[in-house]
Amino acid sequence: MTLDAMAAAVDGCQRCKLGSGRTHIVFGVGNADADLVFVGEAPGKNEDEQGIPFVGRAGQMLTRMIENVIEIPRSDVYICNILKCRPPGNRNPEPDEIACCEPYLYKQLEIIQPRLIVALGKFAAQWLLQTQTPIGKLRGKFGRYRGIPTLATYHPAYLLRNPSQKRTVMDDLLRIKAVQSGELEPEIEIFS
Ligand code: URA
Repeated sequence: MTLDAMAAAVDGCQRCKLGSGRTHIVFGVGNADADLVFVGEAPGKNEDEQGIPFVGRAGQMLTRMIENVIEIPRSDVYICNILKCRPPGNRNPEPDEIACCEPYLYKQLEIIQPRLIVALGKFAAQWLLQTQTPIGKLRGKFGRYRGIPTLATYHPAYLLRNPSQKRTVMDDLLRIKAVQSGELEPEIEIFS
């Protein structure tokens, strides 16, 4: 199955209660052959309106990080979220919503088969790495998602509220760049 065929199959999804309130399903965007996939939490208002992940302020921050720190075009990577629909008022994803939506992410990552995954924030990190460890402890560490090295870092929305942490995330992404270029072996520290 291709990502396009999958997106078409997911269109109209009403598996969970978010289906009734959304404007668009935000399936994912980018290179279907990407080596690097970024996984966020859930669409916000702008993403719901446009049907594209990470297009609001947090998204612009993510784009700058990808293009200025890793130094690759945003279109080279694939970007998606744990949830494909916007939770009302941008509240946190609820466990039943994650349970309904997670087969989509599972399948997306199976199709793409990236070499590396970056988990943005608590929800992505805890789900991908199958742990309840707080994001402050996971950040900067690699675990594995179905064998794929997965780095946990802070969510760009957190950086908008805490700009002093930008340097920390830049350092995480510089390590991603070094792993991608073969200069660094990811050291797996999270075992779940
Ligand atoms: N925050 C996310 O986690 N995902 C988006 O797509 C936008 C904001």
